[in-house]
This record gives sequence, C-alpha cells and structure tokens, in this order.
Amino acid sequence: MPGKLKGKNFISIHDLTSEEVQFVFDTTKLLKMEERMGIRRPILKDKTLGMIFQKSSTRTRVSFEIGMNQMGGKAIFLSSNDIQLNRGETVADTARVLSRYLDGIMARVFGHDTILDLAKYSSVPVINGLSDFLHPCQAMADFYTMLEKSGKLQGLRLVYVGDSNNVSNSLMMAAAKTGVHITICSPQGFTPSDVIMNWYNQDAPSTGSTFHFTPDPIEAVKDADFIYTDVWASMGQEAETEKRRQIFKPYQINDTLLQKAPSHCLVLHCLPAHRGDEITNEVMDGPHSIVFDEAENRLHAQKAIMALLMQ
Ligand code: CP
Ligand code: NVA
Repeated sequence: MPGKLKGKNFISIHDLTSEEVQFVFDTTKLLKMEERMGIRRPILKDKTLGMIFQKSSTRTRVSFEIGMNQMGGKAIFLSSNDIQLNRGETVADTARVLSRYLDGIMARVFGHDTILDLAKYSSVPVINGLSDFLHPCQAMADFYTMLEKSGKLQGLRLVYVGDSNNVSNSLMMAAAKTGVHITICSPQGFTPSDVIMNWYNQDAPSTGSTFHFTPDPIEAVKDADFIYTDVWASMGQEAETEKRRQIFKPYQINDTLLQKAPSHCLVLHCLPAHRGDEITNEVMDGPHSIVFDEAENRLHAQKAIMALLMQ
C-alpha cells in the first residue's frame, strides 16, 4: 500500500503529484469501505503517532487518534502547554527527540515555519494538522467528499465564500492538483497570497483547473456545484472577531444566497461553524448541507495519509 509516499512529510498538497493525491483518495475509499464492512487491518500495528497541539481541536485530535487505533497503532496527545516547547525548548530539539520515540508526528501550530522546522529536524514523517497558512488534511477530506458525492472531481466548480485563509489556501492547492475549477469570493483585500497564487499557477495548467476571484457572492455561486465556507476569524484572530463580523456580513451562506446557486449545489464547511455568522442554521441543517459527511471523511482520509506515510 505505501508506494511513493512512504517516509515523506505531509505539509502541503502542493508537494504531492496529482497521481499521489489520487492515490490518497483511492486508499481513503478502500479504508472507508473496509471500515463499513467491519474489517480493520493492523496496518500500523505497534506504531505510535505523536500529536502536538498549539491550538484547540475536536475533529483533528479525535479523528487522528481513532484512526491510529483502528489501524492497530496508538496516538499520544501532546498539548504544547504541557511539553517543554512551551518553556523554550526549540522546535528543532523537540523534533529530534520525538523522532527517537515516535513513528510519526502530527502538529497543529500557529506559524507555518513551526511545521517546516519540525519536518526539517524530524526523522519520522510530519503531518500538518493545520497551520495559520494551510490545512491540507482538511482539503483532502473535502475533495474526497466531493468525489464521493459527484463520482468525479475533474471539471467540478467549487466556490469558497468568506475569509481567504488556511482552509481556502489548501482548497486551492487541491483544486490545482485535481482539475477542479475554484472561485474565491472574499472582500477586496482578502485575496490569496502571492505564494498561494504562484503554487496554484504552477500546478493548475496540467489538470485544467481554473481560478476566479470575485468579491460578489451572488455572481460567485451562480454555477457552483459546491459552496464552501469557514469562520470569519480563525484561531489566533479572536481579537478581530467583531471587526471581521462587520466586514464579512455580506458573505453569509444563507437560504437567500443558496437560491442563487444551481439546485444541485451542496454546501461544505470544515467546522467548527459559527452558526449565524458565516452560515445559518437553515443551511447547516438543510438538505444541501454535507458538513457531517465531510467531518466523517477526515477520519478516512487521514487514515489513508497515515497508512501511506508511516507503514
Ligand atoms: N476542521 C477542523 O480541523 O476541526 P478541529 O479544529 O475541530 O480539529
Ligand atoms: N480557519 C479555521 C479552521 C479551523 C479548522 C482556523 O484556522 O481557525
């Protein structure tokens, strides 16, 4: 099963080839089907994943830990408040030491440099469980969910409405690798960074993915197969919550906006949602919402990633 990803890090979808991305989806499908049939193979028997968290988490923490358990391994939760990282031990030394005990490290961090440093100094695979810049495990689960619902990815239209952030950055990377057309709909001044645009422009030509930016939500959703949103203030931006609420108010996913989209359009959200801000209860709990299937697929997609990297 491991193939070419064995021993590698999973930091950004940009680092993978389109074939490797597809291989993760194929493995996700297999592992999800086996789980549904009650088959659990000890693919990662006796392997241990360390999970460093500088930020809160429900889905990432639980799905990685359960994923390891289901594959016969173990996971250790390492809150950054409790390990010596918090008292000044360097990221490099932490990575060197943890590599002597663990078979893989998953980390959720503030600065993206922390993930890069962990990867640089670790001798075991490092998985990005979210940084301020990227959330690649999320995007893999999201695209797998779109694939499940549509039977294909190539040519689909994904419209992200809201704050251009770590989640939308990773969605752009996944779109570029899979031939999905992506629209980012954010207020002017919240466009994707130059780094993201450069990576996107490197990867998109080979798959036929196209990029569109518009500040107008109604224009954005008119041909959407999938609409995606995320919180307006990400972890670390709590002080800006009120200011951002005012800026992003016109970008709420509500029934009025959904009526402007094709009737087959489905709605994604990485969760946690701030109901009443970026998405209404009616949409979250309505017939177009696939947010809980999406959350479940975090488990299956991450099992595939861990199996391919750590086996
Ligand atoms: N979507 C996501 O990463 O959720 P958590 O913050 O709960 O891990
Ligand atoms: N953009 C959000 C995603 C949470 C899963 C954040 O970084 O807080």
